[in-house]
Formats: sequence, structure tokens, C-alpha cells
Amino acid sequence: METTPQSRAIWEEACRYLPDGDSRHSIFWNPYPIFTESARGAVVTDADGVERLDFINTMTTMILGHGPAPVLDAARQQMELGLAYNSPNRHQVALARLLCERIPSFDQVRFTNSGTEATLNTIRAARAFTGRSKFAKVEGGYHGTHDAVLVSLRIDPSAAGAYDHPEPVASSAGLADGVLDQAVIVPYNDVEVARRILDENREDLAAVIVEPVMGSVGMLPADPAYLTMLRDFADDSGALLIFDEVISFRVAPGGAQEYYGVTPDMTALGKIIGGGFPVGAFGGRSDIMAQYSPVNGAAIAHGGTFNANPVTMAAGVATLNELTPTVYRRLAELTEMLRQGIRQVCSELEQPVVVTGAGSLFGIHFGHGPLNHYRDIASTDKDLAGRVFIGMLNEGFLLASNLVGALSTSLGEVEVDAFVRGFRRVLQRQLD
Ligand SMILES: Cc1ncc(COP(=O)(O)O)c(C=O)c1O
Repeated sequence: METTPQSRAIWEEACRYLPDGDSRHSIFWNPYPIFTESARGAVVTDADGVERLDFINTMTTMILGHGPAPVLDAARQQMELGLAYNSPNRHQVALARLLCERIPSFDQVRFTNSGTEATLNTIRAARAFTGRSKFAKVEGGYHGTHDAVLVSLRIDPSAAGAYDHPEPVASSAGLADGVLDQAVIVPYNDVEVARRILDENREDLAAVIVEPVMGSVGMLPADPAYLTMLRDFADDSGALLIFDEVISFRVAPGGAQEYYGVTPDMTALGKIIGGGFPVGAFGGRSDIMAQYSPVNGAAIAHGGTFNANPVTMAAGVATLNELTPTVYRRLAELTEMLRQGIRQVCSELEQPVVVTGAGSLFGIHFGHGPLNHYRDIASTDKDLAGRVFIGMLNEGFLLASNLVGALSTSLGEVEVDAFVRGFRRVLQRQLD
């Protein structure tokens, strides 16, 4: 609080006009969030002029760091030609082509302005395609803020049924009647229990939606056997398999579906594909996407004034063009170096830890493993995590408040080494 008086002053003003001073729950923390003044490369500067190295990169979005020249150039060039049109634009076609070439499940794609709209459309498309209404989701899985998916995330496990019979729990006030009846909840990474629950509902399920790497709960990768089981269940039952790759798309050029070699029927995207501008996309098999064809009667309604905005699309194309297989390899190597560094520090300080992640994603969890699913993560030491988060902030490192992070190409070995040394100082102070 001593180093952030300006942030505090702006936040107090903000609270007069915005509930708790902001427009996103996910980035609020006590005593108040820090306001950003600018961001360049790996460095984020706050309203008090304090610089911090960015290890979360706008909740995993800024994979090239802040203000990469090719993306800024592409966005600037398009801005000179117009900010928003009442017609389609060429950049949309280029981005769609790039995505369809890279992502195994994409025959066709449509753009939205958020990951929320993307997951909403995957579930809607599955319902329309199968003529069924229920869908299955993983306990703890986050898929945005539309009604259907605001179920069983960040819940207290003791109020959510037995582990092997999880009950749908509302995770927000204001959901429509009947929302909970539509959701079937399965545990992550438990092939047997999840398959039994899915089989019990096999006639009713339009879809199963899953993050191949569970993001916001802690960068928890799927067991490959789990994804294969979901693929088999979908093939056996007629339900569609949906991957929410809003976060996990950054693990490989073709996303986590390429990384795991399991191809879903539909995929939702967001974050990195807009180069820092608001974006989402959903796509999949052409027979499912045909439901969005106006020429064929547009079975599914889909509008959006800013969908496929030309500036966003140009920034997305420029971003993906930078993301070569070599870049992914380098990011994965650096992130593994960070994970190993954290494990080493915790081992030396005798603090039990599980460091999770895949590709450029990582999560730090204090406690004993193994961590397979949401209930395991819920039992880790959140109090210590919260104190380490504030400690890292004071040492000059940005993470999400539950100690998950994502690297960018603006970070190198020097910064990763500095992060690990900062982590050691912070943890040592907490344990003394
Ligand atoms: C896995 C996942 N799905 C969906 C969303 C929603 O995306 P958006 O915030 O763009 O609506 C998020 C956002 O963090 C996410 O992590």
C-alpha cells in the first residue's frame, strides 16, 4: 500500500461509479487492484510508476508480450482504413484460413467478441444439431459468464454432493429457472466416474464441454486417457465433444487438441487470436457449422455488431504469423525452466508444492499431490498462495492472484531466473 497510493486514489474514485471499482471480477484482489498506466514488452508500469515483469500476460492473452511491432503495425494500418465496417473484411478471411489450417477440428469458424460468446455458441450449436438439451461440464471448469455455464465453478465442495455424484451448483445469482437441470457435472481426469455419469445421461446429452488444460482453476492438464474417453463417449452416444481452448490454444500451433491428438467436434477460442483486442471464435465440423448459413436458412441466429472487427482480425493475423513452431518450443522450454525452478525452491525450503501446466502455462499449488481435479485443487493452501501473490507483486512480478501464469515471447532466461529468485525471497519470508 505504501508503493501504490495513486492506484488507491484512482480505485477510491472508481468505486463511486463502478461496483468495487472495476468491470471484471476475476482481477479484483484485496485491499485494492493496481491500476496500469502502460505496458511494453514484458514490463507493466502502474499508476505510481512502479514497473513489474508480466508473468500472467492479461490472463494468458499477450503471448508476444505488450505492444509487439508487427501487431501494432497491422492494427495501425487497418485503423487508418476504418475502425468498423458494415460488411465483411479481408482480414477475417485471412484469420479464418490460418485457424482452419492449424486447428484439427476446424472445417469452418465464426468470430465473436469474447470467449463467453464462443462457448455459448458451441453449446447452442450442439443443442440444435442433436435435438437434445442437456450438456455435461467438468466440476470447476470455467467457460465464461453466460447462464448455462455459470454452474459448479469456484464452489465449496462440501456443498456440491459426493465426489462421485457431483451436484450442479449455481455459481451466480440471477440464473434462469431450470439452468441447473440442464447441466450434468463430471469430475476432471477420472475416467471411470465421469464415464459412468455420462452413460447415465447418454440419451439426453447434446454435448460435453471440457478445457483440455483447465485454466482459471490452476492450469491443470487433462490426462490423455480422459480426453480419449470423452471422444469415445461422444462417438458412442451422439453427443458432441466441445473443447474450450480459450486458454489452451496457446500450448501448440493447433492448440491442445494437436498437443493431445484428440479432435473434438467443436472448439471455442478467445484471448490470443485477437492480438490483444476483444475476440472470440467458435468452429468445427462443416455439417455443424452449416447451421449458421444464412443461404440455407440460418437455423441458428448469430449477429454481433463488432464480430470480426477488421482491426481485431488484422491484429490476430499478425499475432498468429509470429507464432511459428520454434516459438512454441522456446516458450515451452522457458516455462519448464520456471516450473523446475519453483519446485527446486520449494524442495529446499521444505514447502510441499505441485507445479502444474502445459506449454507456456503454469500453476503453483501449495500442498501435496497428486492434483487431478477441482476438489484436489480446492484443498491446497489458498491462504499461503494469496500471501505469496502479494509478495511477488511487491517484488515486481505479476501473476494471477491464485498463482497461475503464462509466459510471453518478451520474457527470457534472465527474467525467468529473476522470477525464481524473487519467489524464493517471498516464500522464505512467509515460512520464517
Ligand atoms: C477457458 C475459458 N473459457 C471461456 C472464457 C471466457 O472468455 P471471455 O473472458 O473472453 O468471455 C475464459 C476467460 O478467461 C476462459 O478462461
